[in-house]
Amino acid sequence: MKKIIALFVLIVLLAGCTSPKISEDITPSASSEVDSNTVVVEETTEDNEAAFVAETPVVSENPPEPKESLVIDPNSLRALAEEKSMLVGAAVTINHFGVVTYLDTLKNEFNALTLENGMKWASVNPSRTNFVFAGSDIAVNFAIENEMQVRGHTLVWHQQLPLWLTDKKDWTKEELTEVLINYIDNMVGHYKGKIHSWDVLNEIFNEDGTFRESMWYKTMGDEFIALALKKAHEVDPEAKLIINDYSVETINAKSDGLYNLVKKLKEEGVPIDGVGFQSHFISGQMDFDSFTQNVERFEALGLEVQLTEIDLRIEAPITEDKLIVQGEEYKRLMQIALEHNIRVFIVWGISDVHSWVPSYFAGFSSPLLFDGKYEKKPAYDGVIEALKE
Ligand code: XIL
Repeated sequence: MKKIIALFVLIVLLAGCTSPKISEDITPSASSEVDSNTVVVEETTEDNEAAFVAETPVVSENPPEPKESLVIDPNSLRALAEEKSMLVGAAVTINHFGVVTYLDTLKNEFNALTLENGMKWASVNPSRTNFVFAGSDIAVNFAIENEMQVRGHTLVWHQQLPLWLTDKKDWTKEELTEVLINYIDNMVGHYKGKIHSWDVLNEIFNEDGTFRESMWYKTMGDEFIALALKKAHEVDPEAKLIINDYSVETINAKSDGLYNLVKKLKEEGVPIDGVGFQSHFISGQMDFDSFTQNVERFEALGLEVQLTEIDLRIEAPITEDKLIVQGEEYKRLMQIALEHNIRVFIVWGISDVHSWVPSYFAGFSSPLLFDGKYEKKPAYDGVIEALKE
């Protein structure tokens, strides 16, 4: 059966992932912990494997077309970013890979991608002994084929964990250590050499800068942090290792907590390359001065700052004026990135129509660079203007 799946994945690769058929073959299912935007590839039971194979197109009669070489418009976001050695990426969901405009915008405008949900623990390791990479492989292979970088999101988090992990309440420290090491071994090992940066740790802080009481912290204390970083480095020494969080973009108690942690880790020789500022901002409320000072203090530690999940949500009603303000803010954000050593600028989705924002922040929407019809917004123009300066 494994051979059949391998053959199927190979077929998917050869077909260049541009066929709508492919995305329909991967049936996402929401788990109890995630919303409907979430892609969670089904556990590969024998039944699912059978369904998988039965839906495979009759490939021998329809050999895939040879891939067209990649032609990038020199005025695109992607081309202009490349001139500045900037990675501009988008979070993606493979269940939109059947939409031609989605894939075209992705490969024409971005040179990097992150899976919005598809590399989370619940997605890839739905039962303890079973790893399912079919879904995430599609996105990673699309990236490789289109000469894009991939950010791995995320290894250690307290959300979107599989039920086999969260249902058991009496994990011992030794058991959980083994679980974590085994997971990183499999996950990082599977994508070894293909990942630009890993969000090794995600959202480990409370707002006051203390550690979040996640199952990891409660059972292992803060030891899970260095353990995860060391293990990820051992498995893929080339991947950059990042600690990622929200509300750490400006100077405050939470970013102080992050600052003190990464400073200590560096001093102790624990492998760490940088911090990820998720950058889920509210348009109209951005403090660029504090943001700049914050970037500078992390860079002064010899660490990289990456902007990993950018969106600038707008409160209803959405007006032309508010979209213009948002465009100016996107421009400023890219300017600050370019003025510093920020070379990773990832937006949390391609089109506003698929953004997580409306379902998580009531009354807010339109946070991205492209509107619901994939038309370029003032936000897009703002980023382009900054890159052209
Ligand atoms: C979000 C996705 O966008 C949603 O589709 C999903 O339902 C929940 O997770 N911080 C993170 C991301 O690190 O993984 C989250 O993504 C957004 C907040």
